[in-house]
Amino acid sequence: MRNQAKTAACIAATATLVLLGGFGMARAQSAGQWKNPDHLYSKICANCHDTGVGPTIVGRDFKPDHYVTTVRHGSKAMPAFRITEIDDAALLNLAEQLAAVPHMETTEVKP
Ligand code: HEC
Repeated sequence: MRNQAKTAACIAATATLVLLGGFGMARAQSAGQWKNPDHLYSKICANCHDTGVGPTIVGRDFKPDHYVTTVRHGSKAMPAFRITEIDDAALLNLAEQLAAVPHMETTEVKP
């Protein structure tokens, strides 16, 4: 019960942040923050997805949309990222690059 209440509070707080992050002013501040998809992946996604905190997210036949939606809205233990943190263009570039990684036999990623 306690955990459920915490989760609900966390979701509400995240939703508020996502809404705040949606305004145009925030968008202008974040443009060009990421040099390229590798920069973004290594600074953010790799912290969880190359360390076993989150599942492997390449070579799994995900469509670019799945990356964009998950990053913007979060998924269970994964936080949502605002437009001030990852702008739309950088997110789309990353999503397309990750989606293009060929399917792998195993879901293990060796660093
Ligand atoms: C703080 C840790 C953390 C960070 C940072 C993070 N993720 Fe995640 N991510 C997770 C966890 C945990 C899950 C599993 C959530 C679940 O079970 O629904 C996940 C799930 C996902 C999924 C869904 C996988 C599936 O099986 O459908 C995608 C896609 C994804 N993350 C993409 C990204 C991308 C792209 C980034 C970088 C912009 C990123 N994540 C950054 C923790 C993180």
